[in-house]
Amino acid sequence: MAETITITDDRTGKKVTVAVQDGVFASSALRELDPNLRMYDPAFLSTAACASSITYVDGDAGILRYRGYPIEQLAENSTFLEVAYLLLNGELPTEAQYETWSYDVIHHTMVHENMRKRFVDGFHYNAHPMGMFISAIAALGTFYEDSKDIFNQPVLNKQILRLIAKVPTLAAMTYRFSSGLPFVLPNNSMDYAQNFLNMMYRIGDDYRVDPVLARAMDVLFILHADHEQNCGTTAMRVVSSANADPYSATAAAAAALYGPLHGGANEGVIRMLTEIGDVKNVPAFIESIKRGEGRLIGFGHRVYKNFDPRGTLIKKLAYDVFEVTGTNPLLEIALKLEEAALSDEYFISRKLYPNVDFYSGLIYQALGFPVEMFTVLFAIPRTVGWLAHMSELLKDSEQKISRPRQWYIGVDERNYTPISKR
Ligand code: CMC
Repeated sequence: MAETITITDDRTGKKVTVAVQDGVFASSALRELDPNLRMYDPAFLSTAACASSITYVDGDAGILRYRGYPIEQLAENSTFLEVAYLLLNGELPTEAQYETWSYDVIHHTMVHENMRKRFVDGFHYNAHPMGMFISAIAALGTFYEDSKDIFNQPVLNKQILRLIAKVPTLAAMTYRFSSGLPFVLPNNSMDYAQNFLNMMYRIGDDYRVDPVLARAMDVLFILHADHEQNCGTTAMRVVSSANADPYSATAAAAAALYGPLHGGANEGVIRMLTEIGDVKNVPAFIESIKRGEGRLIGFGHRVYKNFDPRGTLIKKLAYDVFEVTGTNPLLEIALKLEEAALSDEYFISRKLYPNVDFYSGLIYQALGFPVEMFTVLFAIPRTVGWLAHMSELLKDSEQKISRPRQWYIGVDERNYTPISKR
């Protein structure tokens, strides 16, 4: 079979033959037919906007790999900081590289005192942590004069290190502020996940990080670290393509993640399960979804049409956490909902399966996080993925500033009418 595709412009009879590689062809071929020809592709359903070697997803087979490594193996054997190194550098670190990298991250977790005093403390008492987090990331960039020097690789690497190290600190800060609790300083003797849990929950001396819960947190971070060209990562790439600094671009990506169709769904799942309230209400709830009265939050995915491997791993992890914390009363409703949906023609025919957000909220709740923090918990590890994509984009000679074209369907030219004549 020829690995080419031939496109004929029936208006002119002109033809162009273009190579197809891995199911992708360069749309620049269309410009050869007619430079004014546009492809109309709302929501980029058929568009590959970049070539990337970071993350591989096969939605039909339920496969997710970071730099070639299956997510299942990384979740089982790796740590979040090792995965972060892998995503950013393309290879797993040697022992020495890992030691230096972990040391550097842990020793950059502190944020300037003015971030809290002058910025975070200025929020309204009941501000949503995700709104605070997005703004805090953008504000953080104003503390570093070199943040705009993005084509200087050592300087960019420094910003990447700062962002990855400081996002848990900012996240914990938003929580402590909204709970009226004093801020807990980072502790350099703890690892990434332990340190985060400690900054979240320490009150005086009576908090000890449970190793099972810290490991669960670390695995959740691994599972959320990257997912190729989703909405937030696309926002990151679009903003970075204008050569914005990494703090502003990360804030933009986090804003996209905040949306309820994206990373905000984990919060939505708990609200939905709470609203259902009892397993006996599940069948009626499923029927209401089928009537078009809302969506089953935590179900469905643009890419996964078989199962979301992260959802499967998170469901398993939930049981480890519940061993320590006791079960989440909403689990029973979630299991019933999953069972009902997976045997219902509506969901089967549309290939709707539980996604990453369906069970993560139950773990977060068991770990003591309020629902408002859930998307922040997603944003912490995803910062790594966003920055890996930014770095890749800046080195890609085929990339330019993102600037899609539009199909104008508005009215044609007309003359201005004075207000008295309208
Ligand atoms: N509940 C009920 N019906 C659904 C759902 C759902 N969760 N998701 C899709 N459908 C239906 C949809 O109504 C449509 O039906 P029809 O063909 O009859 O019009 C069909 O399935 C295809 O849906 P779509 O909107 O074209 O699919 P999409 O690829 O644009 O949307 C999605 C993907 C994730 C936005 C969507 O499945 C959804 O809204 N899910 C609920 C929110 C959610 O869980 N989001 C988290 C996504 S995973 C993590 C992340 O991205 O951060």
